[in-house]
Amino acid sequence: MFRTIEWLDDINEVRLVDQTKLPLEKSHIVTSSHERIAQSIEIMEIRGAPAIGAAAAMGMALAAIESKANTKKELLEYLERAADTLNTRPTAVNLTWATARMLTVAKESGGSTDAIVKTLIEEAKEIAEEDVRMCRSMGENALSVIEPGFTIQTICNAGSLATVHLGTVGAVVRIAHEKYDGDIKVYAAETRPRQQGAKITVFEFMEDGIDTTLITDGMIGTVFREGRVDCCVVGADRIVRTGHVINKIGTYTMAITAKHHNIPFYSVVPMSTIDWVTNVEDVVIEERDPDEIRIINGEYVTVPDAKVYNPAFDITPPELVTAIITDKGVVHNPTEEKMLKLRDL
Ligand code: MRU
Repeated sequence: MFRTIEWLDDINEVRLVDQTKLPLEKSHIVTSSHERIAQSIEIMEIRGAPAIGAAAAMGMALAAIESKANTKKELLEYLERAADTLNTRPTAVNLTWATARMLTVAKESGGSTDAIVKTLIEEAKEIAEEDVRMCRSMGENALSVIEPGFTIQTICNAGSLATVHLGTVGAVVRIAHEKYDGDIKVYAAETRPRQQGAKITVFEFMEDGIDTTLITDGMIGTVFREGRVDCCVVGADRIVRTGHVINKIGTYTMAITAKHHNIPFYSVVPMSTIDWVTNVEDVVIEERDPDEIRIINGEYVTVPDAKVYNPAFDITPPELVTAIITDKGVVHNPTEEKMLKLRDL
């Protein structure tokens, strides 16, 4: 299991797994530059909502070191610009959540600029550690709905590599695997166009000895009709207060298909992935480069100038969601009222 991203205390730099090289090459990027972190998020060397939140927090700490500011005002100005640079992807709320939290800490900290820089480094490390703790709690909370012998359908990668460590869906699968003596199986959807399911989920679950079967996205209906899975467990890039789940493209189709086959559909997220403010219709769905669809392994698989639509995420309405599982608790048949109750616990 991986530490996707970590702060290297001895040199005050950040080390992250380069996910664009997996599964063929296991390599790291080590950097002291917040702009390099922003680039890593943008080109998806690091991806997955909680992981890019932790990366952005560490990027802010690097920016604080880089700024060499003499006054708090200079430091805050540098950090405001760094936050804009780091917020490179619009859909996962963890990214803006983390940069905003780092800015708030900077604003509220007293003392010398050196002292504020130290506080920001500690805050970034704490955001990463919180993520690890939240993942474990989510995995434990999910045991109330996951039984020994279950086969879990998932999509994209919501494993260790989408978080700091353990994963969201990754925690559910790993903790059930541990508690039920390995009696848990996974079906991983390939996840076109970037194939996070094939390249990352299958790789990391196989590394941990979890029985994992890869399917293409179009096979989900057949797998459900044949009774091969007991439930769907997906992550989310953002859940809004009405219980709408914004996750990797294909999730909505999976949820509709699950409903048709009476298969429970769960979304598992840390509280940091819940956006209490934005209305579902205002969430920006990232549209990515058309060539992600036109080209496979460096070769065009279609007419080079074929018209393409490439939204990276979709929206699953709450009526298709059996439960939202968080580190704080489980919300069955989510409604706005139940979500707000969870928030205010
Ligand atoms: O585009 P990606 O790979 O960053 O998308 C990631 C997902 O959609 C994950 O399912 C989501 O972030 C949950 S990760 C714990």
